[in-house]
Amino acid sequence: MFNQRTKIKELLTQQPEGQEVTVMGWVRTFRNNQFVALNDGSTNTNLQVVLPLGEFDEATLKRITTSAALKVTGTVIPSQGRGQQLEVKATALDILGDSDAEKYPLQPKKHSLEFLREIAHLRFRTNTFGSVFRIRHSLAFAIHTFFNERGFLYLHTPVITASDAEGAGEMFRVTTLPFDGTPRNDDGSVNFKEDFFGRATNLTVSGQLEGELGATAFGEIYTFGPTFRAENSNTTRHLAEFWMIEPEMAFYDLEDNMNLAEAFIKYIIGYVMTHNREDVEFLAARLAEEEKSLPADKRSEIGLIEKLEFVLNNDFQRITYTEAIDILLQSPAYKKKKFQYEVKWGIDMQSEHERYLVEKHFKKPVIVTNYPAAIKSFYMRLNDDGKTVAAMDILAPGIGEIVGGSQREERLDVLTARMQEMGVPADELWWYLDTRRFGTVPHAGFGLGFERMVQFVTGMGNIRDVIAFPRTPKSAEF
Ligand code: 4AD
Ligand code: MG
Repeated sequence: MFNQRTKIKELLTQQPEGQEVTVMGWVRTFRNNQFVALNDGSTNTNLQVVLPLGEFDEATLKRITTSAALKVTGTVIPSQGRGQQLEVKATALDILGDSDAEKYPLQPKKHSLEFLREIAHLRFRTNTFGSVFRIRHSLAFAIHTFFNERGFLYLHTPVITASDAEGAGEMFRVTTLPFDGTPRNDDGSVNFKEDFFGRATNLTVSGQLEGELGATAFGEIYTFGPTFRAENSNTTRHLAEFWMIEPEMAFYDLEDNMNLAEAFIKYIIGYVMTHNREDVEFLAARLAEEEKSLPADKRSEIGLIEKLEFVLNNDFQRITYTEAIDILLQSPAYKKKKFQYEVKWGIDMQSEHERYLVEKHFKKPVIVTNYPAAIKSFYMRLNDDGKTVAAMDILAPGIGEIVGGSQREERLDVLTARMQEMGVPADELWWYLDTRRFGTVPHAGFGLGFERMVQFVTGMGNIRDVIAFPRTPKSAEF
């Protein structure tokens, strides 16, 4: 058996002084032909491995270069040097994999995030990405724990679908039809009957519609999977492939939905604050350092940890869309013509408007409800005023929209009328409409953008830095 190693995180917390251990990892630095800083990805804290002078031959020592992979056996002893409590005094050393120092692109110095994006296959080996991806993992784990503890069923909805759940037409086509000699109908349109599935299909933009089928049988379900949007948005908040968590609950109205979403967000933040303290502290310090180079008015008013604690300990602000528009119209920013885009009832709020509400006006997460029907999806429940729907968006400081959700239209006649109005094909969604035909119930759900959540918790400014291998317009490397 090869794997009898102790993980560095474990070793540093358990402090097994005097014991013999085996550790394996990658070299971060090697100084004075004696001191190896070894990292195995379990923590940002490197283990100092001491190679007693004269114990290892020159040829071996030469091969200890940045990012070489080592197996070290030795004794855990109190550290002589400053900076760490423990170190391992090596008795045996194996070089598992050499690393050509001349060619290795990651030097032990600070690299820009832009540069690291170009070598995303190696960036996990930096402290920043170590912390980000351990936190990303913990958030995912906390999400499953939260729903499991509340009796929600994890439903796996399809990645390939024939429907456009959001009705926004931002889909990636899935096809095996040839580009040359594409089969055509008499009118010149593509004959999808010849395609793999015998119809036009695409990558899913949301698992919600199938989620509703689950909720109207199991009561409460959630999905957690990749979703795809072919929107040509080159921003720090948009990906073409992102992960979404979509709970869907029978017997819930809009308020129940908001309560769940707020409790959910607080739970997963709280989980990371307890279980990933070291990584959150590392990223908080990184952010504070990064912001030093910004002009004073661009810096955050509070640090990352204070921000997360604030969110944990305070209620989210809840306002209607109509109230939000009124606040914007009364704002000094509006009066001084600081907004680039128009403000009036009926607009789809732009990120400058959302940021004003969240960052300047309320200074906390805001849940905006009851949006105009015309700017929201067909499945949202029509309010009694006939012009707004029971929608809710959660806006987070520094991020903007992090959650989109609604109470669903459970009344068959109202739903089909809206579908017709919005050009959503009712015949193709016959199966969706069946939930309204056979035991329809009030129900609601929402979608949390996972990467935006990871951004919020890690303080990373660009969404490309919180997913391992980002897919964005004109970019699908790795
Ligand atoms: O607001 P959206 O489009 O809502 C839905 O898809 C609903 N079906 C959800 C539901 O009710 N079950 O997307 C939900 C969230 C957004 O609030 C945002 O956080 C994230 O998904 N999101 C994106 N994240 C990264 N890149 C993109 N291109 C995103 N588009 C949406
Ligand atoms: Mg939305």
